[in-house]
Amino acid sequence: MQIPGARDRIRVFGFYSASIRREKAVKLAREETIGPGYKVRWEVNNETITFDIEANTTGYVGLGFNKNGSMTNADIVMGGVDDRDNSTYFYDMHAVGFSRPIEDEHQDYKLLNLTQLNGVTRLRFSRNLITGDPQDTDIKLEDTYFIWATGLSDNIGYHGGNRGKFAVNILAHAKTTTSEQKRGKILRTFKSNKKHIIKENKTI
Ligand code: HEM
Repeated sequence: MQIPGARDRIRVFGFYSASIRREKAVKLAREETIGPGYKVRWEVNNETITFDIEANTTGYVGLGFNKNGSMTNADIVMGGVDDRDNSTYFYDMHAVGFSRPIEDEHQDYKLLNLTQLNGVTRLRFSRNLITGDPQDTDIKLEDTYFIWATGLSDNIGYHGGNRGKFAVNILAHAKTTTSEQKRGKILRTFKSNKKHIIKENKTI
């Protein structure tokens, strides 16, 4: 899948002063609002997927992966900024039932950024599509669900009504995602010698 890119020079103000690496591999970047005040953006690069979450909460933010949309047996990643001392927390977890998810023995999610500002928590993290950890869910080209929850606080407890599921084929372009999605946006970025093509689907 990975095609070595060519090194090209770009002209800036008349000087060949900068060089960029042009990747010829096709990259997928998508954005979906999966619940009220809960937006997920993700990008796939070779075997790695990077997520950006923006959630309207000052409590914890949880995102999960499960083929049937239930919390039970979901692979869960959770993080937040603790309002008591502004420290951050971030865990690779799994749920065995309707109770506090358990931390995985092996942590396969890599935190890249975590902030809380004006009531909005933003998380950026990455993982391999296939981590090899039996406590994680493989991310494949198939219909599955994101599950999500936000905490009333940073004490990891029951989310009440702040939870939901969202049908999605994570590795597909939005057109092929399941019909449960009412609205979706797709940014298809083809990194080639041409300009980026940006496409938006109003209704799915
Ligand atoms: C201490 C932490 C947690 C506790 C005690 C808890 C508890 C529960 C309980 C009792 C239910 C069934 C009642 C209901 O539908 O509201 C439930 C459902 C649900 N939870 Fe959690 N939960 C926790 C964390 C999470 C996290 C982190 C996520 C997502 C990443 C999540 C996602 C869901 C979803 C999507 C449902 C509804 C779907 C289903 O029926 O399976 N939960 N949870």
